Amino acid sequence: MTGAPLRIAVLGSTGSIGRQTIDVALRHPDKVRIVALAAHRNVSLLLEQAALLDVTRLALADPACRPEADDLPSGAACACGPDAVVELASDTGVDVVVNAMVGAAGLRASEAALRSGRRLALANKESLVVGGDLLMPLAAPGQLLPVDSEHSAIFQCLWGEPAHRMSRIWLTASGGPFRGWSRAQLEAVTVAQALAHPRWTMGPKITIDSATLMNKGLEAIEAHHLFAAPYDRISIVVHPQSTVHSMVEFSDGSVKAHLGAADMRVPIQYALSHPDRWDAPCDPLDITALGSLEFQPADTGTFRCLATALEVGRVGGTLPAAMNAANEVAVAAFLDSAAGFLDIDAIVATVVAEHTTERVESFEQLEEVDARSRARAQELVAAL
Ligand SMILES: NC(=O)c1ccc[n+]([C@@H]2O[C@H](COP(=O)([O-])OP(=O)(O)OC[C@H]3O[C@@H](n4cnc5c(N)ncnc54)[C@H](OP(=O)(O)O)[C@@H]3O)[C@@H](O)[C@H]2O)c1
Repeated sequence: MTGAPLRIAVLGSTGSIGRQTIDVALRHPDKVRIVALAAHRNVSLLLEQAALLDVTRLALADPACRPEADDLPSGAACACGPDAVVELASDTGVDVVVNAMVGAAGLRASEAALRSGRRLALANKESLVVGGDLLMPLAAPGQLLPVDSEHSAIFQCLWGEPAHRMSRIWLTASGGPFRGWSRAQLEAVTVAQALAHPRWTMGPKITIDSATLMNKGLEAIEAHHLFAAPYDRISIVVHPQSTVHSMVEFSDGSVKAHLGAADMRVPIQYALSHPDRWDAPCDPLDITALGSLEFQPADTGTFRCLATALEVGRVGGTLPAAMNAANEVAVAAFLDSAAGFLDIDAIVATVVAEHTTERVESFEQLEEVDARSRARAQELVAAL
């Protein structure tokens, strides 16, 4: 790549994906420069990152977390409140927005990035789960690059292929820490057990989603939107080694698989370098040391969040927004020890069953569904 470095805004810079994005940027200072940072309420880390990277445009979503003027690096300003984060996503001094926020809170930033013509490197899968019907029509070809490792893999398998020749997406799942467990065993799962993912180190919400397999359901919905794939052409396959990040089958029977280290910096970097490739941020895969790779069907009877999410995706409309909101509340309650592990799928199933699905018309409508579903899920948590 030649020319000036790409100017990057990292939204959710204090989280797992955000911190790894900064690591990638520091490895390639000739290619990318971080110019804006946003977080929720981790003021101290945001300020540390701003000082390290010499970033002057900052935002915190929580209005109660305004930093002291004296604590800001020289020349820096920090706007506060959810709108401040959204404004960074359409800042004219930014070329690429990395949306690494967690939850449906990231939807408006994704919308703003796409509407303003910025390239969107999207880790925030909840954006597409909730608002895929509205976001995808806003995305010009090549404007929306997936960061999720599975979707980056699928994107790379499809690159250069005639889209209408894709016959199946094989979405791989590690199976999480409780692969092979029964419902009776899951009953007593602790927060510490659920947070101990066998392959990936991630933020708490996605780690719990990986343990319930809701994450794979969210990813199926994400893949449906990103690749215009009908649900009967998306198959989930459990692959405990997490070496094959996903596969695409074509109409002639060929299957392309994407393999790589289980290191999120690789797909983050690809979302920035595409269509180019830059030097690896981690050790390459030693194919001779891989041993056997296993593939098994997913257990949707035990991991009911996955079954629910696949059904919800098929129904579509406002139902995925309701499901996502219920899941966010139930996962937060589990992390706070206010709900058990199996309460998560029960709360999600109840909110989904009670929701009257409508066609998606607007972002305001989705926000209203989100708020209503959260309130209902909170009631269910309180009644436990
Ligand atoms: N981690 C992974 O390996 C991985 C892999 C694939 C996809 N993803 C997806 O990437 C997204 C981020 O995941 P993560 O694991 O990085 O999460 P995380 O570690 O929990 O970090 C979340 C980030 O979002 C910020 N944030 C939270 N609520 C916000 C709000 N209302 N407004 C603005 N910022 C907000 C947090 O700020 P504070 O620190 O101030 O709270 C933090 O910077 C999720 O959608 C996840 O599904 C993650």
